[in-house]
Amino acid sequence: MAPRSGKTTGLAIPAILDAPGPVVLTSNKAGGDAFTTTFDARAAVGTVWTLDPQQIAHYPRRMWWDILDSAHDLAGAKRLAGHFVAASVDENNSNDFWSTAASNTLAALFLAGASAGRPVTDVLAWLASPSDRTPVDLLADAGHHAVAAQLQGTVSGAVETRDGIYETSRQYASCLLEPEIAAWVTRSAKLPEFRPFDFAQSRDTLFLLSKDGGGSAAAIIAAAADSVMRAAVAVAERSGGRLDPPALCVLDEAANVCRISDLPDLYSHLGSRGVLPITILQSYKQGKRVWGDNGMDALWSAATIKLVGSGIDDIDFADQLSRAIGEHEVQTTSVSRSESGTSTSVSMRTERILPPDQIRALPKGKALVLATGTRIALIDLKPWYAEPSAKTLGPASDAATASITDRALAKLTQDDFGACS
Ligand SMILES: Nc1ncnc2c1ncn2[C@@H]1O[C@H](COP(=O)(O)OP(=O)(O)O)[C@@H](O)[C@H]1O
Ligand SMILES: [Mg+2]
Repeated sequence: MAPRSGKTTGLAIPAILDAPGPVVLTSNKAGGDAFTTTFDARAAVGTVWTLDPQQIAHYPRRMWWDILDSAHDLAGAKRLAGHFVAASVDENNSNDFWSTAASNTLAALFLAGASAGRPVTDVLAWLASPSDRTPVDLLADAGHHAVAAQLQGTVSGAVETRDGIYETSRQYASCLLEPEIAAWVTRSAKLPEFRPFDFAQSRDTLFLLSKDGGGSAAAIIAAAADSVMRAAVAVAERSGGRLDPPALCVLDEAANVCRISDLPDLYSHLGSRGVLPITILQSYKQGKRVWGDNGMDALWSAATIKLVGSGIDDIDFADQLSRAIGEHEVQTTSVSRSESGTSTSVSMRTERILPPDQIRALPKGKALVLATGTRIALIDLKPWYAEPSAKTLGPASDAATASITDRALAKLTQDDFGACS
C-alpha cells in the first residue's frame, strides 16, 4: 500500500489493540501514529518499553538492551553484523568484497565482546585501532580459535586492505559512535534491562522507533526486533511448541527501518510457534530492494495472509494479481433488427473479474486479501479512528503527541540555555 493509504491506521494499530500477548512495533513516525495511539492502551496491560535511540519521540531513556546478548555464538554474531550491513547497503551490493569482509570482521568483534561480557563501546574502540590484539585474545580465550585466526589474518594482512575493511566496518557501525545512541544498548546500573526472553512471556510492549532512512541506527531496531522474535520462538519451543498468548510483531515500514536480512527464512518458523509477524511495505518492489527478488518472493509465499491496498503503481504486479483473482463469464445480449423482425442473441464472454487498471485504482480504505485456501477477496479496512474506541484512543493519542512536542521544546530551550551559559 502506498503512503497514507491506511497501513498504520487500518492494519498496524487495530492489530496492536487486539493483541492478547506481547507486542513489538517498529515505526518511523512518532506523533499521530501507532506509537502515540496505542501507548496508553498497551500500558494498561503490561510494561511499555520504548527504544528511541534517534529521539524521534524525544522519549527519555528508561531502559537499556544488551545488543551483544544475541552474539554469544558465531551465528548470532553474524546475524547482528548482518543487521548493520543491511541497514547501510542494498541487497544488490551486500555481497561485494568489502561488505563481506567488513561483515565478517564486525561479527568477529561482536563475538569477542559478547564472549568476554564487554559492552558494545569496546567493539567501537577495537574498530578504531585495528592493531589492538585484545579481541583476538578474547576470542582465543573463549575457545573461538578459528574466528580468532581469521581476525588475526585480517589484522596482519596488507595494510591497505586491512584499513579498507576496518573503514567499511566503522561506517556500518557508525551510529554507535553517538554516545546518546550507544547508551540505549549498553549496560546501565540505574535503568531496567529489556530482556527478550522475559518479554516473550509477558504482555509487555516494545516500541522500536527510528528515523526514515535512519542509516545505521536502523540496525539497532532490526537487531532488537530480530532478537525478540528469536527469543519468542525459543520460548515457544521450550513450552510445548507455541507461545500462548501469541506474540505480535508489527514491522511497520519494514523496508525503511527494519531490514532483517533473513526475514523470509524466519517467517516460515514464526507462525507455527505463535509468533505473528506483520510486515508492512509500500510496494512489492520496496521488498525486492531489501531482500532481493528471490527473498521477496519467499517472504510473499511464506505469508499466509497477504493484503494489497491502494496505490499499487506496478503494472506487472497489478497484472499478476488480476490473473490470480481470475476470470468470470459475462453475458452479453445483442439485439438485431431486420425486415423479418427483431432477434435477440445471448453470448457468453470471459473477462477478468478485476482488471489490472482497477487494481491500480483501488481507492484508499480498500484492500485485496489473499489468504491461503480461499479466493481473493476485496475488503474494507477498518481504521481505528472510525471505531467506537476512538473516543478514548483519539484524545490519548493527541495527549501523547502533545507531550512529544513538549519534550522537544524542553530540549530546545535546554540547548539554547546550554549555548548561552
Ligand atoms: N485520527 C485520524 N482521523 C482521521 N483520519 C486519519 C487519522 N489518522 C490518520 N488519518 C488519515 O488516514 C490516512 C492513512 O494514514 P496511515 O494509516 O497513517 O497511512 P500509511 O501508514 O499507509 O502511510 C491518511 O490519509 C491520514 O490522513
Ligand atoms: Mg504508516
